[in-house]
Amino acid sequence: MASLGYAAGWRLLSRAFAQAPLAVRLHVLGRYATCPFRPLLAELPAGARLLDLGGGHGIFARLALAAGAREAWVVEPDRRKLLPPVTAPGLRQVAARGEALAGGFDVVAVVDVLYRLPFAEWPAFLAGVRERLRPGGLLLLKEIDPEARWKGRWNRAQERLADLCGLTVGEGFSYEPRARVAARLAAAGFSEIRTVDLGRGYPHAHLLYAARRPPAAGASLRGAPSSAPRPPASARPGT
Ligand SMILES: C[S@@+](CC[C@H](N)C(=O)[O-])C[C@H]1O[C@@H](n2cnc3c(N)ncnc32)[C@H](O)[C@@H]1O
Repeated sequence: MASLGYAAGWRLLSRAFAQAPLAVRLHVLGRYATCPFRPLLAELPAGARLLDLGGGHGIFARLALAAGAREAWVVEPDRRKLLPPVTAPGLRQVAARGEALAGGFDVVAVVDVLYRLPFAEWPAFLAGVRERLRPGGLLLLKEIDPEARWKGRWNRAQERLADLCGLTVGEGFSYEPRARVAARLAAAGFSEIRTVDLGRGYPHAHLLYAARRPPAAGASLRGAPSSAPRPPASARPGT
């Protein structure tokens, strides 16, 4: 399991984005302070090959690499978030949606992305995530718990403001109770579904859904090989 001290994460992001515009630096550090990236790291197996889908500025990917991930691919449709390119060893950034990369990842992280998609798109999106995991691979889906009343209201007010400012790509806010999300994960073919409350000490009701793509029939999870992800010719790192 990966880990990184709070101050070490702060220093890492401060250094990585030192040349970025002030607004980006403030956003990145503000996001680090208010989103439970470090508890998510605790779920990450050491040496993992990670896909950070809808990865924004690549905050989680950078932290994961510092905490022991082998390789981290950020797939992000909003090109503004990948410019100017801020590189790091092991980090690959692709300006695209999820379908840009083929499968084989040990872990796919989807951090505060699903709620931006209309419900009608969720089944295909979740099925696509599953396909990008190797058999036995781990999904880390971070969402907000809509059943937490006051924190939920605060979250919606903040999101409306972000939309008014045109800060995030997406269709709106799609939140569902945890039982429904878990049922959707099961319907998309995930197993070992767990929910973990991560909101303690944060202004938002953060909720993690951890789930696995079932191991291939006859293969033991521990011994399953992790094949390399295959980007198509059109997906060039850093484009
Ligand atoms: C709230 S931001 C979270 C960014 C990043 N995961 C983080 O935690 O900092 C939501 C992100 O989802 C991305 N997004 C929206 N629709 C998407 C889609 N269909 N596929 C992949 N990413 C998407 C947006 O461009 C945006 O960067």
